[in-house]
Amino acid sequence: MAKPTLVVTSRYPKEVEDRINRDYDARRNPNESLFSQRELLSEAEGADALFITPADRLNAEFFERVAPTVRIIATYSVGFEHIDLEAAARRKIPVAYTPGVNNEATADIAMLLLLGASRRAYEAQELVRTGAWRPMSPDMLLGWQVGGKVLGILGMGRVGQAVARRARGFGMKIHYHDNSELPAEIVGDAVYHKDLSDLLRVSQFLSLHAPETPQTHHVLNSKAISLLPPGAIIVNTARGGLVADNDLIAALKSGRVAAAGLDVFEGEPKPNPEYVSLKNTFLTPHIGSATIETRTAMGMLALDNIEAVLNGRPAPTLIPRSNQKIA
Ligand code: DGY
Repeated sequence: MAKPTLVVTSRYPKEVEDRINRDYDARRNPNESLFSQRELLSEAEGADALFITPADRLNAEFFERVAPTVRIIATYSVGFEHIDLEAAARRKIPVAYTPGVNNEATADIAMLLLLGASRRAYEAQELVRTGAWRPMSPDMLLGWQVGGKVLGILGMGRVGQAVARRARGFGMKIHYHDNSELPAEIVGDAVYHKDLSDLLRVSQFLSLHAPETPQTHHVLNSKAISLLPPGAIIVNTARGGLVADNDLIAALKSGRVAAAGLDVFEGEPKPNPEYVSLKNTFLTPHIGSATIETRTAMGMLALDNIEAVLNGRPAPTLIPRSNQKIA
């Protein structure tokens, strides 16, 4: 029996690749580069499913033109701001995502950034690597202690909760803002702020864990920054679009924000170059979920969804219909 045709826009860990090659007739970009929208539409002709990543932007035009043979699209991400879900719903194409498997790995990177920013890890690396390190002087590279400080978490979903668990181990006090207060069994003694402004006012450290939506776009702007305690430290492992870059860069330059640890950026993979030129930033290239275990689990979950839909079974993690409104 012929295998279903799957358009695969990227490369995955071995176990995932083995499953793709075993179960599908895979169509890939032979140049190992991203498909343009025109190319992706052409590859999708006659295909049964698409396996994409956030680097592929599926807009309304894409969904107007995509082949009727496509029965499911799976994105290799928990975020889905790169997909026009309303347009997908109009074409009745289910879209699957990968929630629940990247929490721990992403929370690890949030802690790496929090510690890297607060302990000036970029400058420390630079001293060692450039040979500029001189005999110890007591005021060399003084950072900011994390123990006893308030960590504000914006978005207390699975990743936010995993960050809270880790930060407690470093002696931090957890405060959070989300759409609603969560039960104590989930958040323990974390302090809930219904109003984001109230969270900002107490957050000596602020870690962003909200999805990017029209409501959260540039939520960290100059107004929000002005509410933070002076010398606050910012961490972002969620989406670059949550931050108004020029406002954060101005605050980093003035010292209003002492340091930032950033894994995600607007315009990835080309972050605003000012972040790179500042010494009080600790930067990583969107590696929140980049462990072998997590990236394999994400791929397997994406393939579980594709397999389920193509075989007429309920898919484990389709993006909820509430996000796929038809206007
Ligand atoms: C996600 O799962 O959304 C991660 O950010 C990887 O894109």
